[in-house]
Amino acid sequence: MIERAGSVLESFLAASSEPDAKFREDLAADQIEKMAETALVETSRVDMDPAERATALLALCASVGVKLHSPNYMGHQVPPPIPAVAAAEALIAGMNQGLAVNELSPFASAMERVMIRRLRQVIGWTDAAVAGICTSGGTLANTTAILAARNRAFPKAWKHGITREERPVLMTSIDSHYSIARSMGVLGLGTENLVTIPVDDRRRMRVDRLESSINQQRDSGGQVFCVVASAPATPAGSIDDIDAIADVCERLGVWLHVDAVHGASFLFSEHLKSRMRGIHRADSVAWDAHKMLHVPSLCTFLLYRNLTDSFLAFENRASYLFDDDDQHRAVQDGAKRTFECTKRALAAPLWFVWALYGHQAFAEICERCVWLAEKLYSLLDESTDFQVPYVPDSNIVCFRYAPTVLPLDTMQLNDLQQRIRQQLLAERDFYLTQTTIDGQIFLRTTLINPLTEDRNLLNLLTAIRRIGGRALGGEPTTQRQSG
Ligand SMILES: Cc1ncc(COP(=O)(O)O)c(C=O)c1O
Repeated sequence: MIERAGSVLESFLAASSEPDAKFREDLAADQIEKMAETALVETSRVDMDPAERATALLALCASVGVKLHSPNYMGHQVPPPIPAVAAAEALIAGMNQGLAVNELSPFASAMERVMIRRLRQVIGWTDAAVAGICTSGGTLANTTAILAARNRAFPKAWKHGITREERPVLMTSIDSHYSIARSMGVLGLGTENLVTIPVDDRRRMRVDRLESSINQQRDSGGQVFCVVASAPATPAGSIDDIDAIADVCERLGVWLHVDAVHGASFLFSEHLKSRMRGIHRADSVAWDAHKMLHVPSLCTFLLYRNLTDSFLAFENRASYLFDDDDQHRAVQDGAKRTFECTKRALAAPLWFVWALYGHQAFAEICERCVWLAEKLYSLLDESTDFQVPYVPDSNIVCFRYAPTVLPLDTMQLNDLQQRIRQQLLAERDFYLTQTTIDGQIFLRTTLINPLTEDRNLLNLLTAIRRIGGRALGGEPTTQRQSG
């Protein structure tokens, strides 16, 4: 059956890379739901050979899947995975190694520890400590780090909770991911105690405001227990100045967490790693391999500078699972340091592709994606009918179609971008997203497929001009050079 899955995947990948491939089928959500329901009803057909039936089911999945491997896919921060990893994934699913304790998953646990050590070294932490854990996604990694920071600042909180007088404050930029605010809510710290710092004209945190804001909070009775830097932030892909933020955090004794779920992978590249300058000064770093290292979801690492901090988040005893007094086993048994009990062999796909292709492959993928973003930026910047507000710090680019011949107000421009995106989605040639920044709607691309080429970028702009021109009741604008 695995062989059959392999050939279904091969056909899916071949179809995805055809030049005129649509990124998905023209089916509404309820039609797809019906297909999924119907397949269950048909299970009662006993006359079918199970292998044939399996092939049909796998082919059904593939036929309605979004084709992330299309060079015209420039959507979310979800990559087209390196195809070979599917082989490891199939084996992992089949073996179901339980990651709660080492004795249930000796090799899968070892892979996790080896990857933690390697990624910590890439950050610049050269001791061999297994100071980290794999967890189910960047959101949970951020929550876990904030929990550890809370427990360091408020050592009685695990048992007694936080009192009203304590007022735990977390500071982050206005562009930080929603998981930071969600963590404040989930952990009972209060979303109102998340204080946002404004951003500069490149949408990076205004570090010049950070120190005074922390002091202001302290003067009014707040206890600033954590600063979160974004590397990059989700909306426009801007990377905060981690080094400068670390200066402030060190001076004032505040836990620095770097949400580098997307950008930590740039550390593999000699060319890009300076964008993460100062990351080794953080107390904790969240890193999604399922973003820029092109392995499938989920594969997230939460890494700590110090081993002892990696035990701060959780304080449970469970004699049926782990030995509370054996420090050696505590490092090996994942459940002591993660929210999850049962956990998939999350590090295995990364270990597999790293061992198969070497880490240089990661550098090349990241460099290619950032190069594509810079190429798109220059195409947009050279044209007079697009606005591109931020030089990309990463492989995320925001822009909008705004032909200057027609003076449009903010509402009209916002409406135009939405109509363009809806039409692009309806045509199914290009997949991109949108975001609202300071009340303005932008089209948003994540250049995350290394197989995207210049011509795909040019074709995207042509399609936007055609759709935008029609939406404005005229002809598509042609590209005009500025100056
Ligand atoms: C900056 C940032 N942090 C956290 C997350 C959440 O990560 P995950 O989707 O792995 O939960 C994202 C997702 O895109 C992100 O961009």
